[in-house]
Order: sequence, then C-alpha cells, then structure tokens
Amino acid sequence: MTYTTDPASGEDRQGKGAHARRDRGGKAEHTKTTKGRGGKGLHRRKFLGGMAGVGLAAVGAAGATFSLLTEGNSNKAAAADGTLTIPDLLEGTTSDGTTTFTLEAQTGTSEVISGVSSTTAGYNQSYLGPTMKWTNGDTVLLNITNSLGDDTTVHFHGAHIPPKMDGGPQNAFSDGTTWSPTFEIKDEAKTLWYHPHALGTTAEQVVHGLAGMIIVEDDSDASAALPSEYGVDDIPIILQCLATDTSGDIKYDLTGYLTTGLTYPVLCNGTNVDSTTLGFTATKTRTRFRVLNASPADIMTVQRSDGGTLTQIATDQGYLTEATEVTSIRLVAGARAEFVLDLSDAVTLQAVVTTGWIRGGSGTYDFLTVTPDASDTPDDLPSTLNTITRYDTTDFAARTITLGQSSGTTMNINGSVGTSMDSMATIMTTLDAEEVWTISNTTQLEHSFHLHDVPFQLIEINGEEPTGVDLGWFDTFEVVGGGSIKIAMKFTDFTDDTYMYMLHCHLLQHEDEGMMAALMVMDS
Ligand code: C2O
Ligand code: CU
Repeated sequence: MTYTTDPASGEDRQGKGAHARRDRGGKAEHTKTTKGRGGKGLHRRKFLGGMAGVGLAAVGAAGATFSLLTEGNSNKAAAADGTLTIPDLLEGTTSDGTTTFTLEAQTGTSEVISGVSSTTAGYNQSYLGPTMKWTNGDTVLLNITNSLGDDTTVHFHGAHIPPKMDGGPQNAFSDGTTWSPTFEIKDEAKTLWYHPHALGTTAEQVVHGLAGMIIVEDDSDASAALPSEYGVDDIPIILQCLATDTSGDIKYDLTGYLTTGLTYPVLCNGTNVDSTTLGFTATKTRTRFRVLNASPADIMTVQRSDGGTLTQIATDQGYLTEATEVTSIRLVAGARAEFVLDLSDAVTLQAVVTTGWIRGGSGTYDFLTVTPDASDTPDDLPSTLNTITRYDTTDFAARTITLGQSSGTTMNINGSVGTSMDSMATIMTTLDAEEVWTISNTTQLEHSFHLHDVPFQLIEINGEEPTGVDLGWFDTFEVVGGGSIKIAMKFTDFTDDTYMYMLHCHLLQHEDEGMMAALMVMDS
C-alpha cells in the first residue's frame, strides 16, 4: 500500500487500484506485513508503537505451527489504561413461547472524543444499544419505541426473517410511535446486529450511536463446545471509526466530511481508543470475541500486536467448517467475525483502520489488552464446527448487479439511484430460486456489498476462487474499486408482494446516496 493516508488530502484515494489487493484473513497471510500501515499524518502515538512491533512479529508468525496457546514473544502487550465496557445484555420476558424485548431509540450525549460531549443516540441508553440474545427456534417480539424526533427503522442485519419484519425503509415509523415486529428465529448460531435503515438517514442515525449486537444461539455441538458466557468468555467488540469536528459534532455526509479540522476517533464498544488501550481480564483460558465493524465506511482489520494468530471460528453468517488460524481479520463496514484466543500471556488486539470513504481514519490502534487470570485447560476445539455444502451453481440463474456512480455524490445500482422506493432498481425473484450474482463495481471507490434475507457463498473474488475463511457464509463483502465478486444464494422461506428486502452498499454514505436496490421474493 503506497497511497497516502493523510486524512486531509484524500478526495479520491480509493482510485487507481489502491484497494486492488485484498487481504482478508486467511492461512497464507505472511506477506502482508506492511498492509494498511503505511501512511503519513501519524498523529496518534499508538501508530508508531504498533508499527515497530508488527513488522518483527509478523515475520516470526510465518510458518508457525498450529497452536492455540500464545507462544512466548518479545513484544509485550500494551498496558491497559482503561476498562472494556461490555454492552448490557437485554433481558427479554418469555411467555407462551415468545420472548419480548423492549427497545427505545433515544438521544443523549457521549464522549466520542475524550473530554468532549457529543450529541449522540442509542437504544435504551445514550450511545449504542444493549446486546440481544436470540435462540434458534424461538419466537421473538420486539417493542421498539422511537424517541428520536425523526423517522427511523430498526433493521436486523443478517437475520433471515420475513420482509415485513426486516426493518427496511418500508418499515419506517415516526417519532413517538412503537413498531412491534415478531418472527421466529431461523438463523443458526451467528453474530448479527441491529441499526436504523430509513432512506437517507441511515448514516446520520448510525454514526450517532444507533447500533447494537445480536447473538444467535443454537444447540449445535460447536455452540456447546465454544465459550458462551456473555461478558465472561464471550465478548462483544463493536469497532467504529467516526468523523467529528473538534467540538465533537459527529459528521455523516459530504458537507460534514469536508469540514476542515476533522478528527477520526476510533471507538471500541463506545469508548474512544485513540490513545487509550482498554483492558479485559480473562477468567477463562479460552475467550471468544465477536467483532462487528459498525463504522459508516472505514475498514477495520483486527490483528495481534505480537503478530500471533487469531483462531477464527465464524464469518458474518455463522461457523466456518473448522477453526482457522489467521493473522488478521479484515472487516468492511457492516461485517462481523468471531475468533477465540487461548491465552497464557497478555495479548493486545489492534485495529488497523483503512479509510473507506472520501475521507476517514487511518493508523493502528491498540484497542484492547486481554490479560489472562485463569488456570483451566480448555478442551481442544472440535475438529469440525460446521458443515458447509458448497453450492453447485451450474443450474443457478445468473444476474449482474452493477455498483455505479452517477455523479460525485449520486450512486446507483444497475443504473437506478436508490434514494426512494420508486426510483430504486427492483430485483424480482421467486421462492426457492437459486441464483448466482456477479456484483460488479464500475467505480474506483470501495464498496461493501450487503444482501438482506439469505446468506451467500462466495464463488469468485476478483476472478479468483475463494479460499480459507472466504469459504464461509456471508451477508456483507468487500468489492474493491473496479473489482467484482460472484456470490450464490437460495431464496428460501419468505415471500411478500408488498414488502421488499434490500441490497446495497454498506458504506452508509453510499447507501444514502443511492447505492441501494430492492429485492422482491414472490411465490411464483
Ligand atoms: Cu446493515 Cu441493509 O443493512
Ligand atoms: Cu459503496
């Protein structure tokens, strides 16, 4: 990566193949020691600290044999000078087989940059929202009250639920009203999230704090074997890189991003980690982390400061076939992943921030030091976590989805600018249709393609067959400038002739600028 990362200079740094080389987590990752770390504008001390360590350690990690235990390493973990906040777990009330959750979208204040109060929003609190646990096979009912003073929706990102319950733009509800979707949880174990999805206001509402995690549990052998005690050995990590001015005003659109003197704070579970490393004491040897990139646009790559490996167990849409050692996990906006660490020594986790939009954050942040205080010896991980039958796409119907740019801040899908339900492209399909889509990025900008309703498998990434963790299930995936991905999916279970699912770029600015289309699944 040779392009500048000076935030003040970059109207079009995504161009010219700057993102042409993809580096998702995977087994053969040893060549990427400089990935995403170059750059000027190093106004954060963590950057320099992190950089020196990573270069050395990444070399040491090359060819490391499979071992869950941290090997002795000369790079000490960063001392923690803060405490990891674990979002509350939202208690539901269960009766007649339905678990009811109550959420209120409300405004508040929070310190997005340290020492400065920002106007924010959250669910049941002033920033972010509580974590919900859903169980496969159960029915949930959510009573969600809008106290934002503006229309909103709540979308359950990644959930396989009826279109009418999906929280897309057609489900917008106004201030002072309550929306009460109910549905059965058909998803297997995975990490989802919830956030607003009204047309034109998604970026504004999400960056102010409206986002929360959903943990879906199931009774699979993998779930039984993996850590699952919330806040103890099963830890949510919501990473965000925002944009604010020095008064703490959070920006979300072009006008805001063109303000001079912007800063790009990085948050972990709502706490600024620009110059703070949060601490977590692990009382079990094995800890599971669920990481969500809830940034509007920037890419977050998670790695260890000592260059050691993360044992990745899940992508967006559930378990991998087997636990996979990776040296980093690259998450585009909206994406999630899960990994476990078996620790005997403290380890510092870093987020490498790569600008996703016209401007954004950059640099390496030591966001969390995990210090073990445990004496247990966990069982080996199961050799198989999941069975993923690869789609044979020979007879799948083919479609092309083109991600396009009409003009500077007007985006389109298949040529239609999706800023209103009437103007957006509508993909029509039928129940149980099996399709293979080529998502073609005709712009030089970075996009994060997200499909509602059903998970997809990657068939090709920029013309190449996926390997490693890219063989898992996804709902959100990077499409680099000028690049393309080919994905396969099957539209099971739900139809509606009024309510639609959405497919769009998960760079929230792009989605508000029209990179959004509708998907209608009909009975026949
Ligand atoms: Cu996370 Cu269509 O959204
Ligand atoms: Cu985009």
